[in-house]
Amino acid sequence: MKNPAKIGEIVETVSRAVSLPVSVKTRIGLSSNLQNISEVGRAVEEGGAEALFLHGRFANDRHRGPADWETIARIKEELSIPVIGNGGVGGAEEALSKLKDYHVDGVMIGRSAIGNPWIFAECLCRWTGRPFTPPSARERFEVITEHLKQLYQFMLAEARIRQRPSGRAEAAACRQFYGHLVHYLYGREGLGKLRKEIAHIDSIDQLLLEISNLLL
Ligand SMILES: Cc1cc2nc3c(=O)[nH]c(=O)nc-3n(C[C@H](O)[C@H](O)[C@H](O)COP(=O)(O)O)c2cc1C
Repeated sequence: MKNPAKIGEIVETVSRAVSLPVSVKTRIGLSSNLQNISEVGRAVEEGGAEALFLHGRFANDRHRGPADWETIARIKEELSIPVIGNGGVGGAEEALSKLKDYHVDGVMIGRSAIGNPWIFAECLCRWTGRPFTPPSARERFEVITEHLKQLYQFMLAEARIRQRPSGRAEAAACRQFYGHLVHYLYGREGLGKLRKEIAHIDSIDQLLLEISNLLL
């Protein structure tokens, strides 16, 4: 972001090289000392991007503090390409109110989708005025199962590509999955106990058994 002209060049070069629509995701600046999102947005648009996804925090704030939706709204006003706002959207209701209040073309949801992939179906229901039915415990378990198995496949593939031994991939997938599990099972009794046990669980089948005992 220190060099908006370079961003414009990159967008232009990529846009010329590919047949797919090119979009850009960025933040509102590197820090409060470098608030140049207007210039960056212009460079992105002039470079030929089809949309801008804008996270309303400074890079050096990481995920701290509220996102600055006023700035997102201002950039939406300044540009002709669609602007999709992002940052701190906690749920479907809030996603809709952000659309309405800040006149953005779309809303992007990050962390609130962790452990809650149903949030997008809920947004669609609220958007179209249909009732939303939260997932049943069985449905939740099925999604957890698929996610865990795919995480394992991903870790196996990664080990293969990096030419690392894959013998520990299953145990590593179980450990890594805990970060998702706390969100999938947030507030459920027994989660703390599972946290302690998970350090000793090396098999996906065993982990799924523990989860099903907790959930079903
Ligand atoms: C685990 C995780 C991984 C992320 N990876 C990327 C990434 O690869 N590229 C990117 O542009 N943003 C990435 N982000 C940032 C999100 O896309 C999003 O901009 C940010 O989390 C703010 O939205 P939120 O408040 O809804 O989470 C990531 C965020 C998280 C939590």
